[in-house]
Amino acid sequence: MPLGCPGSNRIEGIDADYMQQPRTGGCNTLTMSLDDPWELASADAELLRGRLGTPDAVVVLGSGWAEVGTSLGSVEAEMPMSDLVGVPPPTVLGHGSTASMVSAGDRRVLVMAGRVHLYEGHGAHTVVHGVRTAVLAGCRDVLLTNAAGSLRPEVGVGSAVVLEDQLNLTGASPLAGPPPPPEMGARFADMTDLYDPDLRAAALAADPRGVGGVYAGLLGGAFETPAEIRMLSGMGADVVGMSTVLEAIAARHLGARVFGVSLVTNLAAGLQDTLDHEEVLAAGAASAGHLGVLLQAVLGAG
Ligand code: HPA
Repeated sequence: MPLGCPGSNRIEGIDADYMQQPRTGGCNTLTMSLDDPWELASADAELLRGRLGTPDAVVVLGSGWAEVGTSLGSVEAEMPMSDLVGVPPPTVLGHGSTASMVSAGDRRVLVMAGRVHLYEGHGAHTVVHGVRTAVLAGCRDVLLTNAAGSLRPEVGVGSAVVLEDQLNLTGASPLAGPPPPPEMGARFADMTDLYDPDLRAAALAADPRGVGGVYAGLLGGAFETPAEIRMLSGMGADVVGMSTVLEAIAARHLGARVFGVSLVTNLAAGLQDTLDHEEVLAAGAASAGHLGVLLQAVLGAG
């Protein structure tokens, strides 16, 4: 049987472990190489279109953004993200990892709830697999959301920071490794205006509380030290987090228009007393309303 057998194509383990395993027999027979991230994303794009239809935009929901995703429109179809061959199984990823097709005005929006992070031990290709699959499935606009710490005391909890640029400080790249097939983009993609100026302008016009800023993406695993925050400030960062930068590079490389927005869930280390994850989730729930308006404006401008 080909790809697309519901629930049958899970692969155990993470990254190198599962990418190496041969898959044969029954519904799990794969005809492409699991080692080739481009081929894997193409095959998953086909699988996704078969299950959910063809999307024209994708919204990736970060921590604290869950409620915003469901407010975008009516859900037409959904599937577990882990039914995609290149997405790690739910035991690793955590619960609530769903891909939904949402009808929002005249847009068919793929909402991906549940991200894969470098700090979970995954490689860069696995981290960007969902976004790559979405673009190859038809999404020309990629909207990346995240929770972040603010390095600017005047940009407080609940603010939306529309990303103007980024610092990829993860030490990883989704474009390192075997060259992409020529039809999938250049070997060295241009990262000027990575975050689309028109989409940024639409977002800032829709949310009077929104500000522009530079996102520093780190490997993560722990929050930063105050000394690291001082260093990031000197480098030009306005917000800091543990996601987004690799997905933005991968989406841009495939020719998508990229939009990014951070929900400030805390002031960065050294600028407030202590940091904890509960605080991040609570700030998201409290801000769902104005963030939904902002994303709708971006989708309307696409
Ligand atoms: N640092 C890194 N990641 C984060 C933070 C932070 O302060 N807040 C939410 N995600």
